[in-house]
Amino acid sequence: FGKQLRLLDVVPSTQDELRKLAENGAEEGTLVIAEQQTKGRGRMGRYWVSPSGKGVWMSLLLRPPVPLPHTPQLTLLAAVALSRAISRLVKIEIGIKWPNDLLVGGKKISGILLESAAEDERLRYIVVGLGISANLDPEDYPEELLAKAISLKMASGSAVDRGELIASILSEFENLYDLYLEQGFEPIRSLWEAHAVTLGRMTSLYTPQGVIEGIPRELDAMGGLKVELADGTYRTVYSAEIGNSNS
Ligand code: BTN
Repeated sequence: FGKQLRLLDVVPSTQDELRKLAENGAEEGTLVIAEQQTKGRGRMGRYWVSPSGKGVWMSLLLRPPVPLPHTPQLTLLAAVALSRAISRLVKIEIGIKWPNDLLVGGKKISGILLESAAEDERLRYIVVGLGISANLDPEDYPEELLAKAISLKMASGSAVDRGELIASILSEFENLYDLYLEQGFEPIRSLWEAHAVTLGRMTSLYTPQGVIEGIPRELDAMGGLKVELADGTYRTVYSAEIGNSNS
């Protein structure tokens, strides 16, 4: 991964830059990194704070030979890869909030956004957007985000070398991706569960069909979250926001 690399200064979003390359036949592993994004985007159409030189804002191209419904598994794989990569460099306790937010002390330090292009149920490519708030200072965040977001620098007390972080992410990602292609989702599922902070506690899940209250117990074989409801039955959730509906 990263052998084809495009380093850019200011772009609206690395996702769009990489999509253009993907449409022109760029190979798997192609990487776009920007110093700054003016329209960084997050899940659920949210804005992603991406100030110049302060974080890792990048997008990675995958062309996996798996059917389209399997993409949630890659979302979870990405979270495990990021968590392991960061832990190699920074001594902080990281937990994964389903599906793929990384938290330190309950605050978000990174975000992952997968966007896929498909044709006739066939997956053409996936653009994996990775945003790591590496060296942001409190004044880089809008006031209202400070209660729920934190940078690696703020959490650990020292600045992180972004080049080392990128190298570490690419190597963890490539190893886990190879493991996934060889052995399927099972080993990724176990790793994800070992890092998860959202299992075993009463939780509100905001799904497109409404709110579900229950205790997330484990992942199913597809990567969905199995939630135990008050009456002891289970429901599997594939798309939801955990906790506060606007967090
Ligand atoms: C989220 O947690 O909501 C996902 C945030 C993803 C942010 C990254 S930064 C690089 C890439 N480009 C974007 O515009 N978004 C992703």
